[in-house]
Amino acid sequence: MLINLLRLLPPEMAHELTIKLIKSNFIVGIKRNQEYTTLKQNILGIDFKNPLGLAAGFDKNAEVIIPMIRYGFGFVEVGTITPRPQKGNQKPRIFRLLEDEAVINHLGFNNKGSEKILRNLKAFYENKAINGVVGINIGKNKSTKNDIDDYLYCIEKLGEFGNYITINISSPNTPGLRDLQLRGRIETLVKKIQSKQSEIKQLNNKPIFIKISPDLDDEQLRDIALMSLANNINGLIISNSSIKRPESLISYHKNELGGLSGKPIFIDSTIILKKMYSLTNGQIPLIGVGGVSNGYECYEKIKAGACLVQLYTALTFNGPKIIKEILTELNNLVLTEGYRNISEVVGRSS
Ligand SMILES: Cc1cc2nc3c(=O)[nH]c(=O)nc-3n(C[C@H](O)[C@H](O)[C@H](O)COP(=O)(O)O)c2cc1C
Repeated sequence: MLINLLRLLPPEMAHELTIKLIKSNFIVGIKRNQEYTTLKQNILGIDFKNPLGLAAGFDKNAEVIIPMIRYGFGFVEVGTITPRPQKGNQKPRIFRLLEDEAVINHLGFNNKGSEKILRNLKAFYENKAINGVVGINIGKNKSTKNDIDDYLYCIEKLGEFGNYITINISSPNTPGLRDLQLRGRIETLVKKIQSKQSEIKQLNNKPIFIKISPDLDDEQLRDIALMSLANNINGLIISNSSIKRPESLISYHKNELGGLSGKPIFIDSTIILKKMYSLTNGQIPLIGVGGVSNGYECYEKIKAGACLVQLYTALTFNGPKIIKEILTELNNLVLTEGYRNISEVVGRSS
């Protein structure tokens, strides 16, 4: 019901209102979600109650971690967070592609900045009522000249307040950001991050994930795979939104500027996930993201090589009930296919 009312508002206004309603407990999280032993995993030393997480961008300012965990998500990735607060690009900058079950956004890392978000993260950890896995997704301010400095700053300031850190170098809405994925540049970034990590005791064993674009070609994928293996990268998130526009799009807003997310990117993002799984010989944990809206698609990502899966766009179209539905379907699929735990499914189709 509420989801239909929210759809009458412009998308960004609907999002802001949703966050406010969740924060003020107007939309109450389900207190007791069923937990499935089939879906529990320990990855990189972190206990995940299930493999379904909230992708970055929904809770940019770490304001609704607790309700999102109560809705049933196995983990919540907050951000992208930049060192200084940032307004982002001019509005309107989020567009619903209703008929395509997709969204295009060119937000440009609007967020309240590391200082303020640090306070929200501390408040989350001080609230002992709930335990949850949190990922901290970091990026750079638009005006920063030396990109790497911003990542190092955020790691130092925020790193210890998450179970893992995501280096976002794949958002299409910050000029030049995606060039950090190029050979040479990504390795320099990674080496500096790892050296910063080794200087700070609390960060020594903190898993670092790199989030990549679905628009990379085969050579770029191979470069990233080799670099990740050579530098012991803990994990990769595949993928961010896409600047491609599939022929199949029919919605009015299909040619807006920015990153496309939702159903139309499911196939491409799953193909590159699968390629990355085989390029890295299944040795690096992968988080699959892009177009997941039901348990079958979530299962497909896992079969393609993901040990964890995230979603964002489907939540805006379906509301939080989708989380429970996906987990129920996933549990049924694991059991009917004769497995005991979801970890046995990872990479089965690769
Ligand atoms: C409105 C919107 C804002 C987003 N903001 C971010 C962001 O700040 N950082 C990030 O890494 N990804 C961001 N994303 C990308 C998502 O995390 C995800 O990678 C992508 O949308 C594909 O998943 P989906 O099809 O389930 O939405 C955003 C996506 C949307 C729709």
